[in-house]
Amino acid sequence: MNMWRGILNAYQDYLPITEATPQLTLHEGNTPLIPLETLSEKWGVEIHVKFEGANPTGSFKDRGMVMAVAKAKEAGSEHIICASTGNTSASAAAYGTRAGLHTIIVIPEGKIALGKLAQATILGADIYAIRGNFDQALDIVRNISASENITLVNSVNPYRLEGQKTAAFEVCDQLGSAPDILAIPVGNAGNISAYWKGFKEYHASQGTGLPQMRGFEAEGSAAIVRNQVIVNPETIATAIRIGNPASWELAVDAAHSSQGKIDEVSDAEILEAYQLLAQTEGIFAEPASCASIAGIKKQLATGEIAKDSKIVAVLTGNGLKDPTTAIEAVDVKPTVIESSEKALLDLLKSKSGA
Ligand code: F0G
Repeated sequence: MNMWRGILNAYQDYLPITEATPQLTLHEGNTPLIPLETLSEKWGVEIHVKFEGANPTGSFKDRGMVMAVAKAKEAGSEHIICASTGNTSASAAAYGTRAGLHTIIVIPEGKIALGKLAQATILGADIYAIRGNFDQALDIVRNISASENITLVNSVNPYRLEGQKTAAFEVCDQLGSAPDILAIPVGNAGNISAYWKGFKEYHASQGTGLPQMRGFEAEGSAAIVRNQVIVNPETIATAIRIGNPASWELAVDAAHSSQGKIDEVSDAEILEAYQLLAQTEGIFAEPASCASIAGIKKQLATGEIAKDSKIVAVLTGNGLKDPTTAIEAVDVKPTVIESSEKALLDLLKSKSGA
Protein backbone atom coordinates (compact mmCIF):
# COMPACT_ATOMS: atom_id res chain seq x y z
CA MET A 1 0.00 0.00 0.00
CA ASN A 2 1.23 3.45 -0.97
CA MET A 3 0.68 5.40 2.23
CA TRP A 4 0.19 9.17 2.15
CA ARG A 5 2.89 10.85 4.24
CA GLY A 6 2.04 14.53 3.89
CA ILE A 7 3.01 17.25 1.47
CA LEU A 8 6.74 17.54 2.21
CA ASN A 9 7.09 13.90 1.25
CA ALA A 10 4.69 13.97 -1.71
CA TYR A 11 5.91 17.19 -3.34
CA GLN A 12 9.56 17.34 -2.33
CA ASP A 13 10.64 18.05 -5.91
CA TYR A 14 8.56 21.23 -5.94
CA LEU A 15 9.41 22.46 -2.43
CA PRO A 16 12.48 24.10 -0.87
CA ILE A 17 13.51 20.91 0.90
CA THR A 18 17.13 19.98 1.67
CA GLU A 19 18.65 16.97 3.42
CA ALA A 20 18.59 19.02 6.60
CA THR A 21 14.84 19.71 6.44
CA PRO A 22 12.99 17.64 9.07
CA GLN A 23 10.29 15.32 7.67
CA LEU A 24 7.62 17.02 9.74
CA THR A 25 4.06 15.85 9.04
CA LEU A 26 0.58 15.31 10.42
CA HIS A 27 -0.28 13.75 7.05
CA GLU A 28 -1.76 17.02 5.76
CA GLY A 29 -2.88 17.44 2.15
CA ASN A 30 -4.45 14.85 -0.18
CA THR A 31 -7.85 16.40 0.56
CA PRO A 32 -10.94 15.37 -1.43
CA LEU A 33 -12.21 17.19 -4.51
CA ILE A 34 -15.97 16.70 -4.26
CA PRO A 35 -18.39 17.35 -7.14
CA LEU A 36 -21.44 19.47 -6.25
CA GLU A 37 -23.93 17.38 -8.18
CA THR A 38 -27.15 19.17 -7.32
CA LEU A 39 -25.88 22.75 -7.48
CA SER A 40 -23.98 22.10 -10.72
CA GLU A 41 -27.13 20.89 -12.39
CA LYS A 42 -29.22 23.71 -10.99
CA TRP A 43 -26.73 26.40 -12.06
CA GLY A 44 -25.68 24.88 -15.41
CA VAL A 45 -21.98 24.63 -14.55
CA GLU A 46 -19.59 21.93 -13.30
CA ILE A 47 -18.54 22.76 -9.74
CA HIS A 48 -16.16 20.79 -7.56
CA VAL A 49 -15.08 21.79 -4.06
CA LYS A 50 -11.58 21.31 -2.71
CA PHE A 51 -12.46 20.36 0.86
CA GLU A 52 -9.55 21.72 2.87
CA GLY A 53 -11.50 21.17 6.06
CA ALA A 54 -10.27 17.57 5.83
CA ASN A 55 -6.75 18.63 6.81
CA PRO A 56 -5.48 17.55 10.27
CA THR A 57 -6.40 20.83 12.01
CA GLY A 58 -9.39 21.43 9.75
CA SER A 59 -8.08 24.11 7.40
CA PHE A 60 -5.75 24.74 4.44
CA LYS A 61 -3.24 26.38 6.79
CA ASP A 62 -1.67 22.99 7.54
CA ARG A 63 -0.09 22.86 4.07
CA GLY A 64 1.76 26.12 4.63
CA MET A 65 2.43 25.58 8.30
CA VAL A 66 4.18 22.22 7.91
CA MET A 67 6.62 23.84 5.47
CA ALA A 68 7.18 26.99 7.54
CA VAL A 69 7.65 25.09 10.81
CA ALA A 70 9.98 22.52 9.22
CA LYS A 71 12.16 25.36 7.88
CA ALA A 72 12.09 27.15 11.25
CA LYS A 73 13.26 23.93 12.91
CA GLU A 74 15.90 23.42 10.24
CA ALA A 75 17.22 26.95 10.89
CA GLY A 76 17.51 26.15 14.62
CA SER A 77 14.66 28.38 15.75
CA GLU A 78 13.11 27.55 19.12
CA HIS A 79 10.14 29.93 19.00
CA ILE A 80 7.46 30.63 16.42
CA ILE A 81 4.90 33.44 16.44
CA CYS A 82 1.81 34.36 14.44
CA ALA A 83 -1.17 36.69 14.37
CA SER A 84 -4.38 34.94 13.48
CA THR A 85 -8.12 35.09 12.94
CA GLY A 86 -8.03 31.51 14.26
CA ASN A 87 -7.03 28.91 11.72
CA THR A 88 -3.38 29.91 11.43
CA SER A 89 -3.11 29.79 15.21
CA ALA A 90 -4.66 26.31 15.40
CA SER A 91 -2.27 25.06 12.76
CA ALA A 92 0.79 26.78 14.27
CA ALA A 93 -0.07 25.28 17.66
CA ALA A 94 -0.32 21.77 16.18
CA TYR A 95 2.84 21.85 14.06
CA GLY A 96 4.77 23.88 16.65
CA THR A 97 3.99 21.24 19.26
CA ARG A 98 4.78 18.42 16.87
CA ALA A 99 8.17 19.98 16.12
CA GLY A 100 8.89 20.73 19.79
CA LEU A 101 8.86 24.51 19.37
CA HIS A 102 7.45 27.18 21.69
CA THR A 103 4.41 28.63 19.89
CA ILE A 104 3.17 32.18 20.52
CA ILE A 105 -0.24 33.18 19.19
CA VAL A 106 -1.77 36.66 18.98
CA ILE A 107 -5.50 36.87 18.21
CA PRO A 108 -8.17 39.59 18.14
CA GLU A 109 -10.10 39.31 21.42
CA GLY A 110 -13.65 38.00 21.01
CA LYS A 111 -13.36 37.69 17.23
CA ILE A 112 -12.24 34.13 16.71
CA ALA A 113 -14.54 31.16 16.29
CA LEU A 114 -14.93 28.84 19.28
CA GLY A 115 -13.47 25.71 17.65
CA LYS A 116 -10.28 27.54 16.70
CA LEU A 117 -9.81 28.91 20.20
CA ALA A 118 -10.35 25.41 21.59
CA GLN A 119 -7.65 24.05 19.28
CA ALA A 120 -5.03 26.65 20.17
CA THR A 121 -5.80 26.08 23.86
CA ILE A 122 -5.60 22.30 23.95
CA LEU A 123 -2.58 22.18 21.65
CA GLY A 124 -0.49 23.97 24.23
CA ALA A 125 0.26 27.34 22.64
CA ASP A 126 0.99 30.57 24.46
CA ILE A 127 -2.11 32.64 23.61
CA TYR A 128 -2.49 36.44 23.74
CA ALA A 129 -5.74 38.19 22.82
CA ILE A 130 -5.31 41.86 21.90
CA ARG A 131 -7.97 44.53 22.21
CA GLY A 132 -7.67 45.15 18.51
CA ASN A 133 -8.06 43.47 15.14
CA PHE A 134 -6.05 41.02 13.04
CA ASP A 135 -4.22 43.75 11.10
CA GLN A 136 -2.94 45.27 14.34
CA ALA A 137 -1.95 41.82 15.65
CA LEU A 138 0.00 41.18 12.44
CA ASP A 139 1.87 44.50 12.79
CA ILE A 140 2.82 43.57 16.35
CA VAL A 141 4.14 40.09 15.54
CA ARG A 142 5.98 41.29 12.42
CA ASN A 143 7.85 43.87 14.48
CA ILE A 144 8.62 41.43 17.30
CA SER A 145 9.92 38.76 14.91
CA ALA A 146 12.15 41.37 13.24
CA SER A 147 13.84 42.29 16.51
CA GLU A 148 13.75 39.02 18.48
CA ASN A 149 14.92 35.49 17.80
CA ILE A 150 11.40 34.30 16.97
CA THR A 151 10.26 32.98 13.59
CA LEU A 152 7.16 34.54 12.06
CA VAL A 153 4.87 31.88 10.58
CA ASN A 154 2.19 34.10 9.04
CA SER A 155 1.84 33.91 5.27
CA VAL A 156 4.38 36.74 4.81
CA ASN A 157 6.84 33.92 5.58
CA PRO A 158 7.51 32.71 1.99
CA TYR A 159 7.59 29.05 3.07
CA ARG A 160 3.88 29.30 3.89
CA LEU A 161 2.94 30.02 0.28
CA GLU A 162 5.32 27.28 -0.90
CA GLY A 163 3.42 24.70 1.13
CA GLN A 164 0.00 26.07 0.25
CA LYS A 165 0.67 25.96 -3.51
CA THR A 166 0.49 22.13 -3.30
CA ALA A 167 -3.31 22.37 -3.21
CA ALA A 168 -3.22 23.60 -6.82
CA PHE A 169 -1.14 20.54 -7.79
CA GLU A 170 -3.75 18.26 -6.22
CA VAL A 171 -6.61 20.02 -8.00
CA CYS A 172 -4.88 19.47 -11.37
CA ASP A 173 -4.19 15.81 -10.58
CA GLN A 174 -7.72 15.16 -9.31
CA LEU A 175 -9.40 16.89 -12.25
CA GLY A 176 -6.89 15.85 -14.92
CA SER A 177 -6.12 19.51 -15.68
CA ALA A 178 -6.65 22.98 -14.20
CA PRO A 179 -10.32 24.09 -14.07
CA ASP A 180 -11.60 27.07 -16.09
CA ILE A 181 -12.16 28.99 -12.87
CA LEU A 182 -10.72 28.76 -9.36
CA ALA A 183 -13.01 30.46 -6.81
CA ILE A 184 -11.44 31.22 -3.44
CA PRO A 185 -12.08 33.35 -0.34
CA VAL A 186 -9.62 36.20 0.24
CA GLY A 187 -8.55 37.50 3.65
CA ASN A 188 -4.87 38.23 4.06
CA ALA A 189 -4.55 37.20 0.38
CA GLY A 190 -1.87 34.56 0.85
CA ASN A 191 -3.85 31.55 -0.34
CA ILE A 192 -4.96 32.97 -3.70
CA SER A 193 -1.32 33.93 -4.29
CA ALA A 194 -0.15 30.43 -3.36
CA TYR A 195 -2.67 28.71 -5.65
CA TRP A 196 -1.67 30.93 -8.56
CA LYS A 197 2.00 30.10 -7.98
CA GLY A 198 1.10 26.41 -7.83
CA PHE A 199 -0.95 26.45 -11.03
CA LYS A 200 1.84 28.24 -12.90
CA GLU A 201 4.54 25.85 -11.67
CA TYR A 202 2.50 22.74 -12.42
CA HIS A 203 1.59 24.07 -15.85
CA ALA A 204 5.28 24.71 -16.58
CA SER A 205 6.24 21.14 -15.66
CA GLN A 206 3.09 19.14 -16.50
CA GLY A 207 1.19 21.27 -19.05
CA THR A 208 -1.96 21.28 -16.89
CA GLY A 209 -3.27 24.69 -18.02
CA LEU A 210 -4.15 27.80 -16.04
CA PRO A 211 -7.48 28.80 -14.47
CA GLN A 212 -8.99 32.25 -14.08
CA MET A 213 -8.42 33.20 -10.44
CA ARG A 214 -11.56 34.62 -8.86
CA GLY A 215 -11.08 35.76 -5.27
CA PHE A 216 -13.86 36.88 -2.92
CA GLU A 217 -13.50 39.26 0.01
CA ALA A 218 -16.28 39.92 2.52
CA GLU A 219 -18.03 43.20 1.73
CA GLY A 220 -17.20 44.80 5.10
CA SER A 221 -13.52 43.91 4.70
CA ALA A 222 -13.07 44.36 0.96
CA ALA A 223 -9.84 46.37 0.94
CA ILE A 224 -8.58 45.09 -2.41
CA VAL A 225 -11.93 45.60 -4.15
CA ARG A 226 -12.18 49.16 -2.79
CA ASN A 227 -8.46 49.75 -3.32
CA GLN A 228 -8.15 51.17 0.18
CA VAL A 229 -7.19 49.92 3.62
CA ILE A 230 -10.26 49.25 5.79
CA VAL A 231 -9.40 50.46 9.29
CA ASN A 232 -12.32 48.71 11.02
CA PRO A 233 -13.10 45.60 8.96
CA GLU A 234 -16.31 43.73 9.81
CA THR A 235 -17.91 40.48 8.67
CA ILE A 236 -19.61 37.44 10.12
CA ALA A 237 -16.87 35.44 8.39
CA THR A 238 -14.31 36.21 11.11
CA ALA A 239 -11.59 34.20 9.33
CA ILE A 240 -11.43 36.89 6.61
CA ARG A 241 -12.09 39.94 8.79
CA ILE A 242 -8.96 41.65 7.50
CA GLY A 243 -8.64 45.26 6.33
CA ASN A 244 -5.05 45.44 5.09
CA PRO A 245 -4.11 42.16 3.38
CA ALA A 246 -0.38 41.41 3.54
CA SER A 247 -0.26 39.75 0.09
CA TRP A 248 -2.35 42.48 -1.56
CA GLU A 249 -0.12 42.95 -4.64
CA LEU A 250 0.36 39.21 -5.21
CA ALA A 251 -3.41 38.69 -5.14
CA VAL A 252 -4.01 41.54 -7.60
CA ASP A 253 -1.36 40.04 -9.87
CA ALA A 254 -2.98 36.58 -9.66
CA ALA A 255 -6.36 38.02 -10.64
CA HIS A 256 -5.02 40.25 -13.43
CA SER A 257 -2.59 37.87 -15.05
CA SER A 258 -5.20 35.07 -15.07
CA GLN A 259 -8.01 37.29 -16.49
CA GLY A 260 -9.84 36.75 -13.21
CA LYS A 261 -11.08 39.20 -10.62
CA ILE A 262 -11.09 40.09 -6.93
CA ASP A 263 -14.73 40.64 -6.02
CA GLU A 264 -16.79 40.95 -2.83
CA VAL A 265 -19.78 39.17 -1.32
CA SER A 266 -22.06 40.36 1.49
CA ASP A 267 -22.54 38.61 4.83
CA ALA A 268 -26.08 37.73 3.75
CA GLU A 269 -24.74 36.09 0.58
CA ILE A 270 -22.09 34.21 2.60
CA LEU A 271 -24.67 32.90 5.07
CA GLU A 272 -27.02 31.88 2.27
CA ALA A 273 -24.22 29.95 0.53
CA TYR A 274 -23.20 28.38 3.88
CA GLN A 275 -26.66 26.92 4.39
CA LEU A 276 -27.17 26.05 0.74
CA LEU A 277 -23.98 24.02 0.66
CA ALA A 278 -24.85 22.19 3.87
CA GLN A 279 -28.51 21.58 3.08
CA THR A 280 -28.17 20.78 -0.63
CA GLU A 281 -24.87 18.92 -0.79
CA GLY A 282 -24.28 17.69 2.76
CA ILE A 283 -21.03 19.63 3.07
CA PHE A 284 -20.28 21.65 6.19
CA ALA A 285 -17.68 24.36 5.65
CA GLU A 286 -17.00 27.39 7.81
CA PRO A 287 -18.63 30.72 6.80
CA ALA A 288 -15.48 32.32 5.29
CA SER A 289 -15.04 29.28 3.05
CA CYS A 290 -18.49 29.81 1.62
CA ALA A 291 -17.47 33.19 0.16
CA SER A 292 -16.26 31.10 -2.78
CA ILE A 293 -19.70 29.55 -3.34
CA ALA A 294 -21.44 32.91 -2.78
CA GLY A 295 -19.08 34.45 -5.32
CA ILE A 296 -19.84 31.82 -7.95
CA LYS A 297 -23.56 32.40 -7.50
CA LYS A 298 -23.11 36.15 -7.78
CA GLN A 299 -20.97 35.99 -10.93
CA LEU A 300 -23.31 33.49 -12.61
CA ALA A 301 -26.11 36.01 -12.09
CA THR A 302 -24.03 38.88 -13.57
CA GLY A 303 -22.89 36.71 -16.47
CA GLU A 304 -19.21 37.03 -15.48
CA ILE A 305 -19.07 33.24 -15.18
CA ALA A 306 -20.27 31.51 -18.34
CA LYS A 307 -22.61 28.50 -18.32
CA ASP A 308 -20.84 25.13 -18.64
CA SER A 309 -17.67 26.47 -16.98
CA LYS A 310 -15.62 23.97 -15.02
CA ILE A 311 -15.14 25.54 -11.59
CA VAL A 312 -13.23 24.53 -8.47
CA ALA A 313 -14.27 26.34 -5.29
CA VAL A 314 -11.86 26.15 -2.38
CA LEU A 315 -13.57 25.36 0.94
CA THR A 316 -10.80 26.60 3.18
CA GLY A 317 -12.00 25.46 6.60
CA ASN A 318 -14.23 22.89 8.31
CA GLY A 319 -17.70 23.92 9.47
CA LEU A 320 -17.00 22.51 12.95
CA LYS A 321 -14.55 25.37 13.50
CA ASP A 322 -17.47 27.72 14.12
CA PRO A 323 -20.31 25.91 15.91
CA THR A 324 -21.83 29.19 17.13
CA THR A 325 -22.61 30.48 13.63
CA ALA A 326 -24.10 27.12 12.63
CA ILE A 327 -26.44 27.02 15.59
CA GLU A 328 -27.47 30.66 15.17
CA ALA A 329 -27.96 30.40 11.40
CA VAL A 330 -30.97 28.10 11.50
CA ASP A 331 -34.14 28.06 13.57
CA VAL A 332 -34.19 24.28 13.82
CA LYS A 333 -33.56 23.01 17.34
CA PRO A 334 -33.89 19.40 18.52
CA THR A 335 -37.40 18.50 19.69
CA VAL A 336 -37.10 17.15 23.24
CA ILE A 337 -39.22 14.02 23.85
CA GLU A 338 -39.65 11.20 26.38
CA SER A 339 -37.12 8.40 26.05
CA SER A 340 -39.45 5.87 24.39
CA GLU A 341 -40.09 4.34 21.00
CA LYS A 342 -43.74 5.31 21.23
CA ALA A 343 -43.03 8.98 21.86
CA LEU A 344 -40.86 9.17 18.77
CA LEU A 345 -43.16 7.11 16.56
CA ASP A 346 -46.22 9.15 17.55
CA LEU A 347 -44.43 12.34 16.62
CA LEU A 348 -43.15 10.98 13.31
CA LYS A 349 -46.64 9.77 12.42
CA SER A 350 -48.29 13.06 13.35
CA LYS A 351 -45.76 14.91 11.19
CA SER A 352 -46.24 12.69 8.17
CA GLY A 353 -50.02 12.90 8.66
CA ALA A 354 -50.25 9.08 8.85
N1 F0G B 1 -10.67 30.93 4.75
C1 F0G B 1 -10.35 30.62 6.02
C2 F0G B 1 -11.14 29.56 6.70
C3 F0G B 1 -9.27 31.28 6.67
O1 F0G B 1 -8.97 30.96 7.91
C4 F0G B 1 -8.57 32.28 5.97
C5 F0G B 1 -7.47 33.00 6.60
C6 F0G B 1 -8.94 32.55 4.65
C7 F0G B 1 -10.00 31.86 4.08
C8 F0G B 1 -8.25 33.56 3.82
O2 F0G B 1 -7.00 33.13 3.39
O3 F0G B 1 -5.69 34.96 4.37
O4 F0G B 1 -4.71 33.43 2.69
O5 F0G B 1 -6.44 35.09 2.03
N2 F0G B 1 -7.20 32.91 7.83
C9 F0G B 1 -6.02 33.53 8.46
C10 F0G B 1 -5.86 33.04 9.88
C11 F0G B 1 -5.92 35.00 8.28
O6 F0G B 1 -5.29 33.74 10.71
O7 F0G B 1 -6.27 31.91 10.16
P1 F0G B 1 -5.88 34.20 3.10
